[in-house]
Amino acid sequence: MSSIRVKRIALIAIPVLIVLLVVVLLLFNHNNNIDLEGPIGELDANEANSAAFAQFYPAHWDSYMTNADNIEQPSHFEHKPYLKDIYAGFGFAAEYNEPRSHLYTIEDILKIDPARKKAGASCFTCKSTQVPAMMEKYGDDYYLMSFDDIKDEFTEPIGCLDCHDPKTMDLKISRPALKEALERQGRDLDKLSQQEMRSLVCAQCHVTYYFYPETKRITFPWDKGVKADNILEYYDELGYSEWVHPNSGAGLVKPRHAEYETFLESTHQSAGLSCADCHMPYTVVGNKKVSSHKWQSPLNNIEQSCMNCHRNNSDWLLDRVNTIQSQTKQSQDLAAAAVVNAIYEIEKAAQAANVNETKLAEARKLHREAQWYLDFIIVTNGYGFHNPTETLNNLNIAMDKGYKASQLAREARD
Ligand code: HEC
Ligand code: HEC
Ligand code: HEC
Ligand code: HEC
Repeated sequence: MSSIRVKRIALIAIPVLIVLLVVVLLLFNHNNNIDLEGPIGELDANEANSAAFAQFYPAHWDSYMTNADNIEQPSHFEHKPYLKDIYAGFGFAAEYNEPRSHLYTIEDILKIDPARKKAGASCFTCKSTQVPAMMEKYGDDYYLMSFDDIKDEFTEPIGCLDCHDPKTMDLKISRPALKEALERQGRDLDKLSQQEMRSLVCAQCHVTYYFYPETKRITFPWDKGVKADNILEYYDELGYSEWVHPNSGAGLVKPRHAEYETFLESTHQSAGLSCADCHMPYTVVGNKKVSSHKWQSPLNNIEQSCMNCHRNNSDWLLDRVNTIQSQTKQSQDLAAAAVVNAIYEIEKAAQAANVNETKLAEARKLHREAQWYLDFIIVTNGYGFHNPTETLNNLNIAMDKGYKASQLAREARD
């Protein structure tokens, strides 16, 4: 190649490279420019009204208000007819709907079936920014008040104050049950990393809990660990049952939406992800980068939620998610069939003339265990996606224990 030709190429290539470099740098900076509109510090430290934040954080307010689109709320009974059998004797058997957006919590709770109001004022704990103020106002009596006694005091759904300190907009844990559970685990609350906080703000509500006997204080049963077997062991040791199944006579415990517990130790959590990475991806508003405040299925905006890391095509990824979720549903249905069968086998045994009481008691214990593992999956949102291996493992345990319960019940009446 002649040196003139080389010079000519260089003459064209160098400016092109410089322009490209500048564009890349601009894009990079632009994407790292986190939107923190000010002025910070003017809001009241206990501001429960999210609309008050709108003037300072308009992009976040707009994003938050898009949650209004998320209105679907199908009943869980539609695709899981067995719920009526397994929840018999408990409020959930009367009504159990899929969740919808954070904006509708007050509206939804005020129209729940009366059978579900027994838990009292505690029901509001995950539904409103006003909860910390009510806990302050009523002290420990808050947990003992009835649903109807307190319902008119709540007007604000989940909002800014639930996750932020209005003075600094730092992430903040506002619910005592989570703080107490972490302290009992020996965690120093001043040393939680930012990445951990991006999950812990969700773990204030997207966790399983129970009402401590007598005080009815909301408590996270995590002292032995957060996995299904640890929590069952915790309840067994405490001798705790939430209700007695009217057909089988077994004392049962009820898991609730254990998204956080399930997510821990999953592939994604081990890779360092937090809930916010998938559920609050960065979006660009004008020339600013804003964490999306539309809490929804990440599959609705898969480009932002997943494709940053999974750069192969989104159809392939969606297919993977579908496979995980349909395997979960299939195994869940099989495990549920085993548990329902156990319930009626035990009922028959209990009515038999010469029933073997030892075997009957053992069958009931197995029903308690099988239902716990099954229900842990049923009530956890995401249909197994948050931790596929653990989910299928729990369902296998449920199936095995369900069959063993039926077997023992039959032996008990032989
Ligand atoms: C103060 C309690 C609370 C906090 C904090 C909270 N959530 Fe929620 N979340 C709820 C409740 C309650 C619902 C169901 C609302 C309904 O159906 O009325 C819900 C619903 C959702 C839904 C919608 C489900 C659907 O089917 O559309 C998603 C997604 C979600 N939350 C994700 C998150 C994430 C991610 C975080 C943390 C960044 C978080 N939530 C923090 C209580 C909370
Ligand atoms: C369910 C919890 C939750 C609620 C409710 C919530 N936020 Fe956030 N917010 C977060 C998380 C998580 C982040 C990301 C923080 C981080 O990574 O530093 C965030 C980030 C922010 C930021 C920092 C900039 C950014 O986009 O990352 C601002 C400002 C903000 N939120 C404003 C608001 C306002 C205003 C409201 C009420 C209208 C609100 N948030 C409600 C969880 C929440
Ligand atoms: C790796 C990405 C990822 C992470 C991290 C993640 N999720 Fe999810 N989440 C999903 C996917 C995918 C679904 C299934 C959505 C569907 O079926 O449409 C889901 C579903 C949900 C749902 C039900 C939403 C609906 O519309 O059905 C809730 C609530 C939820 N996740 C909360 C959480 C919480 C709380 C955390 C942290 C403890 C978390 N997720 C962490 C990807 C993630
Ligand atoms: C911050 C990066 C990141 C984001 C965002 C992310 N993932 Fe992943 N994902 C990973 C890593 C890392 C692995 C582990 C990969 C490996 O070991 O090969 C993984 C593994 C997976 C796997 C296989 C492992 C399993 O649990 O079955 C699936 C499926 C998956 N991701 C789906 C998703 C979906 C769907 C989303 C969006 C809702 C998402 N991911 C968002 C980083 C991410």
